[in-house]
Amino acid sequence: MAKSTSTPAPKKKPAVKALPRAKRQVPSPSQIQARKYDVVLYGASGFVGKQTVAHFAQLGHLKNAAGKPLRWALAGRSADKLAAVRAACGAGAKHADIVVADAQDAAALGQLAQDAHVVLSTAGPFALYGSELVAACVKHGTHYVDITGETPWVHGMIAQHHAAAVANGTRIIPFCGFDSVPSDLGTWLITQAMQEKYGEPCERVKACFTLQGGVNGGTLASALNFMGSDQAKMLADPFLLSPDRDRKRSSTGHQDPSGPSYDVDFKAWLGPFFMGPINTRVVRRSADLLTPARGKPMGYAKNFHYQEYLRFGGGPLAAAAATAFSAGMAASQFAMTLAPVRALAGKLAPGPGTGPSEGSMNRGSFRCELVGTSASGHAVRGRIADRGDPGNRATTKMVCEAALCLALQFDELPGGRSRGGLLTPASGLGAVLVARLRAAGMTFEVD
Ligand SMILES: NC(=O)c1ccc[n+]([C@@H]2O[C@H](COP(=O)([O-])OP(=O)(O)OC[C@H]3O[C@@H](n4cnc5c(N)ncnc54)[C@H](OP(=O)(O)O)[C@@H]3O)[C@@H](O)[C@H]2O)c1
Repeated sequence: MAKSTSTPAPKKKPAVKALPRAKRQVPSPSQIQARKYDVVLYGASGFVGKQTVAHFAQLGHLKNAAGKPLRWALAGRSADKLAAVRAACGAGAKHADIVVADAQDAAALGQLAQDAHVVLSTAGPFALYGSELVAACVKHGTHYVDITGETPWVHGMIAQHHAAAVANGTRIIPFCGFDSVPSDLGTWLITQAMQEKYGEPCERVKACFTLQGGVNGGTLASALNFMGSDQAKMLADPFLLSPDRDRKRSSTGHQDPSGPSYDVDFKAWLGPFFMGPINTRVVRRSADLLTPARGKPMGYAKNFHYQEYLRFGGGPLAAAAATAFSAGMAASQFAMTLAPVRALAGKLAPGPGTGPSEGSMNRGSFRCELVGTSASGHAVRGRIADRGDPGNRATTKMVCEAALCLALQFDELPGGRSRGGLLTPASGLGAVLVARLRAAGMTFEVD
């Protein structure tokens, strides 16, 4: 019998080491000071962008690392629109410069990135307007935050830029809005409290949300854009953003919930949360980035499990509502896979640049309750809450404070000066962002 020959098995890729240290020194404070702006607000003419300008217009009292007033600018594709936004934001914005750079203009974005210490972007859909800007920021060592919820786009940015951002110590931190700051920082706080109080890592964390708010035209445009792309099927992968995909983890037990359930810890009926497929991927990336490749896990257990839900309340009516909502969500998710339905939704939906009224944004609110458990059965509870529309008021506060963490408190951030990469709010900003958001009026409680 002829001997079968086989080609040698391909060499196994080494497991990705969590957050290796930068090989190249990050810019010194004096080099950063030499840049023209502490923060550039890109997408400043959009619905959320205008709110970031209004937020920065109130920061006249802040000083940068050199003790000088914070230097910031509005950026986008239209000088006229940006000038109108600046004028509408009053005296606090009048010294801010205007930088014109179209999202596809690599040369203009390169100059913008060289001039900025930190870029805050609200120009979405990010799959359409974000890629060149991220590339420019990584190239020039400019730290970056945004409010995307587009996991397939971030998956692509990780593949293209994570290694370079690790090597030059640039922090690129997407998901700094309502998706996914409460889920990511809330879970991180629970894991830290478990470690401190009981000396054990958290095996599981679950979160349930209640919220009141509206939807922006820009958010619908982003959802329609990626549902219509060939990346839509990536959304189902529970570990889409995890760095160690070579380990081919089983997704069993990590799939997104699809039906109603009664939860004894929350004493409530729960249903699937429409932002769960985004937030859970971000929290799982944080767990992987913050778990050492070797040695004892701290905070997040090796087989860490995270899930989140929408809360409906305790009675029989809540059970019916959770059931009806689950069925409606499954039906609408299926409908959005059909091109004619997406085309119709695109025609009927409010367009980019629109959003809820001022009154509706002021009446909005959110509350996220979390429970973490350890292998030996210890439990830690926490909650995060704020008033105001989650996708606008809370998102603006979160992303602006995230940018200020990088611009003003860089040396206090987790991982020290050299940590870089495509990070998450927990791995890139951690306790510094919690403290800034608390100071800005957001509730962060851990029992
Ligand atoms: N994480 C969260 O909780 C959260 C909450 C709200 C929104 N979002 C996301 O944030 C993004 C923005 O939302 P939004 O409601 O503010 O949307 P929007 O009002 O439509 O704003 C989009 C922005 O992108 C800019 N833009 C469009 N084409 C451009 C180009 N070629 N070059 C440069 N800039 C360009 C627009 O500039 P012009 O004004 O010149 O058109 C505008 O500033 C969306 O992706 C949305 O999904 C996330």
